[in-house]
Amino acid sequence: MPLHQPPGVAIRAMERHDADQVLTIYQQGLDTGHASFETTAPTWQEFDAAKLDRHRFVAIDPTAEPSSNVLGWIAASPVSDRCCYAGVVEHSIYIAPHARGQGVGAALLAVFIASTEADGIWTIQAGIFPENTPSLRLHTKAGFRTVGTRQRLGRLHGRWRDVVLLERRSPTIL
Ligand SMILES: CC(C)(COP(=O)(O)OP(=O)(O)OC[C@H]1O[C@@H](n2cnc3c(N)ncnc32)[C@H](O)[C@@H]1OP(=O)(O)O)[C@@H](O)C(=O)NCCC(=O)NCCS
Repeated sequence: MPLHQPPGVAIRAMERHDADQVLTIYQQGLDTGHASFETTAPTWQEFDAAKLDRHRFVAIDPTAEPSSNVLGWIAASPVSDRCCYAGVVEHSIYIAPHARGQGVGAALLAVFIASTEADGIWTIQAGIFPENTPSLRLHTKAGFRTVGTRQRLGRLHGRWRDVVLLERRSPTIL
């Protein structure tokens, strides 16, 4: 996966002042019905408490107003507080509707992988609905493998949904 950004896109650490745009993009992704079992984005306080500080990034359009320049974001949570899983995280990635399909997700994921690997995180996992073709493609291209499909794992709007479990085991952390 290339580490370069698409033209007109810059990637930087997520900051507190990005909160409104991050949560708006989160909600737009949830509204697709193919991103998560959640239907409502968390508050910033909930988001901030759940996500690891060191591996939160936003993609921005550097030419846009700061109040409307965020194109997408990526962040992760630990999967467990057991010390044997200290290097295992589960991430979320959400791109604004107008910026999807232009390589922004791929660029954010590449930066996130490099950041987590440099910090000793050895496994990144993701649960993706089988209907979410763009996300499956994005992650497979970034080196994630399909562990398996968890059947009828939960209900979204009353309908049972399968979830594909993917993981990327760092080849550099031995
Ligand atoms: C899934 C998502 C994060 C992908 O990000 P993106 O910036 O749109 O993806 P990219 O442009 O980097 O594309 C990555 C790959 O997916 C492919 N892709 C993108 N949109 C696609 C679509 N609608 N259908 C099929 N493939 C698609 C791209 O072609 C690319 O593959 P390629 O390099 O072989 O061409 C984004 O669409 C999104 O935010 N969706 C809503 C929220 C969501 O579902 N989040 C993920 C939860 S698991």
